[in-house]
Amino acid sequence: HAPVIAIDGPTASGKGTVAQQVAQRLGFHYLDSGALYRLLALASLRRQLAVQDVAALTLLARELHIVFRDGYVKLDGVKVSNEIRAEEIGNRASEIALHAPIRLALLARQRALRTLPGLVADGRDMGTVVFPDATLKVFLTASVEARAQRRYKQLIEKGFPASIEILSQDLAKRDARDIQRVSAPLRPAEDAKILDTSNLSVEQVVGKILEWFVA
Ligand code: CDP
Repeated sequence: HAPVIAIDGPTASGKGTVAQQVAQRLGFHYLDSGALYRLLALASLRRQLAVQDVAALTLLARELHIVFRDGYVKLDGVKVSNEIRAEEIGNRASEIALHAPIRLALLARQRALRTLPGLVADGRDMGTVVFPDATLKVFLTASVEARAQRRYKQLIEKGFPASIEILSQDLAKRDARDIQRVSAPLRPAEDAKILDTSNLSVEQVVGKILEWFVA
């Protein structure tokens, strides 16, 4: 099996940025599993499926025509890298992600990306469900304030409207949903290394993970 670094954590904990840079430094592939859930959310919105329609969403998850490339994702042949970053899509993704059959439908797609020379995978359940035998498991945390600030900056940079106050409320809701759900609840794997990134730069977090990986 190709080596895997699993990086999990709550919303806006900086996983994405960190995971991409770790992948780049090692020359590994990168799996943004949240993007899969976001793609499904966008596709379901376009097809006007209700978030409660688990049967239809599961079918869609199996059939979803998507492409993952460095720097962009495509849905039905069209680039949607920016669209899937909207807060509305993130919130919808988190509702869709509650359902076990939908998660199962996405499992094989995620595992298929584990190829040489290796994979860095970020999400909620990379270390607990998708890659339980990962070479290294990291769980990133950060205070709600730090995460709301990061998300705010991200959204503004992408040209989306944002308010720190509303974002903090959304973060708390998203945390609760991710932690309390029955299927693959957000929690560190038993053998995960936990890192609070509230006061760390991206460089420092990347450095720490690389240090753990080669140790
Ligand atoms: O950007 P943010 O961290 O909020 O979200 P994301 O990583 O892009 O994922 C969007 C949503 O998909 C999350 O709120 C999770 O509920 C869900 N998700 C999941 O359930 N399992 C994963 N492995 C990745 C994302």
